[in-house]
Amino acid sequence: MCGIVAYIGPRDAYPLLMKGLHRLEYRGYDSAGVCLLNDDLRVFKCKGKVSDLEDFVAGSDVSGNIGMAHTRWATHGEPNTINAHPHLSQNKTLAIIHNGIIENYTVLRSELKNRGYTFTSDTDTEVLVHLIEDIMINEHVSVEEAVRVALNEVIGAYAIVILAKDFPDKIIAARKGSPMVIGVGKDEFFIASDATPIIEYTNNVVYLNDEEIAIIERDHEIQIRTILNQKQTPYIEKLAMSLGEIEKGGFDHFMLKEIYEQPHSIYDSMRGRLHVDQGIVTLGGIRDWEQKILNAKRIIITACGTSWHAGLVGEYLIEDFARIPVEVEYSSEFRYRNPVLGEDDVVIAISQSGETADTLAAIELAKSKGATVLGICNVVGSSIARATHAGIYTHAGPEIGVASTKAFTAQVAVLTLLGLLLAQKKGTISQTEFQKILIELDRIPAKVQQILELSQKIKDIATIYKDVKNSLYLGRGYNFPVALEGALKLKEISYIHAEGYPAAEMKHGPIALIDELMPVVFIATRRGIYEKVITNIEEVKARKGRIIAIVTEGDETVKALADHWIEIPDTLEALIPLLATIPLQLLSYHIAVMLNRNVDQPRNLAKSVTVE
Ligand code: G6P
Repeated sequence: MCGIVAYIGPRDAYPLLMKGLHRLEYRGYDSAGVCLLNDDLRVFKCKGKVSDLEDFVAGSDVSGNIGMAHTRWATHGEPNTINAHPHLSQNKTLAIIHNGIIENYTVLRSELKNRGYTFTSDTDTEVLVHLIEDIMINEHVSVEEAVRVALNEVIGAYAIVILAKDFPDKIIAARKGSPMVIGVGKDEFFIASDATPIIEYTNNVVYLNDEEIAIIERDHEIQIRTILNQKQTPYIEKLAMSLGEIEKGGFDHFMLKEIYEQPHSIYDSMRGRLHVDQGIVTLGGIRDWEQKILNAKRIIITACGTSWHAGLVGEYLIEDFARIPVEVEYSSEFRYRNPVLGEDDVVIAISQSGETADTLAAIELAKSKGATVLGICNVVGSSIARATHAGIYTHAGPEIGVASTKAFTAQVAVLTLLGLLLAQKKGTISQTEFQKILIELDRIPAKVQQILELSQKIKDIATIYKDVKNSLYLGRGYNFPVALEGALKLKEISYIHAEGYPAAEMKHGPIALIDELMPVVFIATRRGIYEKVITNIEEVKARKGRIIAIVTEGDETVKALADHWIEIPDTLEALIPLLATIPLQLLSYHIAVMLNRNVDQPRNLAKSVTVE
């Protein structure tokens, strides 16, 4: 993960780099560092967050209009100051920042040690900077050529930026597997892990491809070469994002803002796709692939984290509507377990960031076996969006809070549309039923808005349960993935242990945990196998568990059994996840705030997991 940002141009680099680093902090916040290049390479770095770095740097000379900065999510080596980036080469003429993992670093490290290099950190990154220096010295080549040669020796993933003391008007950047975007302004260039540090200065960007090296010089056009030394023509694209979208807009936290954005983000994900008056669904991004999907023997959904939970909802939806068999796989397992895959399979990769390393690897595996691979991504132009044959963007807008909220509901909205489109084309659903679902789907954003108005009631419940140590989230059918997602949200941001389970499975283990201290959150909406869920609630109640229930408006049965209840509007069973998730997001949010947790940047987590 890690976030990187660099600048060359007429402006003061330091404030611009710090602002950029704050925007990238969602990618990791174990340590931060900055390097400015004037006559010398001046490096400042420390353990902790970007604000700690700013305190540390205060009063120092940070002048200069070329520099780079890094915020770290530790992979190799403890999160301390020594391991913070940038790292300097032995003769201190080169500095590097890196996002990714050099997998063969132990071999390279011992070779370099034998050649007299001393290592000051435990990172894989330091190996790379010494290696580049070694090549420059021994082969008498330019810094860009040394970077190219070094990258041919490296196994792993990287987005790197290098500054060289002897070339004060040049930045070298390269990527493989980790994201990197270059902003092209008038007489200035910006380099970053995503476009957020760049957007206020320019919307002209170049997305660097895997195994490409960019040579960025003051007063020159960007030059791009592959690591095999082939010249590439930079392709300048326009960014669609706006600055307002990446600011908090009056909310205390990005997570809260993003929860409240859901009426709009769900609507935006369906806009131009859901045509209630015409009785159709269109998905432009996969139009040319529709036949392939309709003829698929099987659909495999692959994803990680919250996106995997959306995939589970997708399984229920697509099987229910379109009668196509669906399997849902954790990308990290799928990529390594030699799955049976062929040309008749369609793989759908779901990812908010579009950069998750395991999901990218799962895509490559699926492509190599001849499968058709589609993406459902939020970040336009991301690696997954580009690696897939076709796809559907979620249009939820930038999601900054590390715990995913609006991206989840947008993914579910898009999967609902996909299920409906396939069902209509396949004839597995009557037009009357289809139209009924379209009408209900169209009402979802307004119903989400209604649920957001329950925030105070949910906060009151949070006050009662904020100090618990454990909790269970139970649901059945479409509400089982909702239970998993509710539990994940609570543990991610409050650090309270929470387990999501299919409600009926509770008696095969978790029931042993239930006593008067254990809160059990039931998603007990009045559709599907509602009566069976009531039986499960009775089982918990008989063991004195405390029951918090998400119920359908007007329900009296569950309310009578529950200690606390949150009423959500009624909808069709298949659409309940779009509603039932919202109160669980708010419950986690309020508990985390009351516990003084860092809601937007919970410990040890990162938003974009670009390492496996
Ligand atoms: C990290 C994030 C989660 C996210 C998961 C998958 O763990 O903290 O919120 O669900 O990665 O990320 P993706 O970008 O592929 O959806």
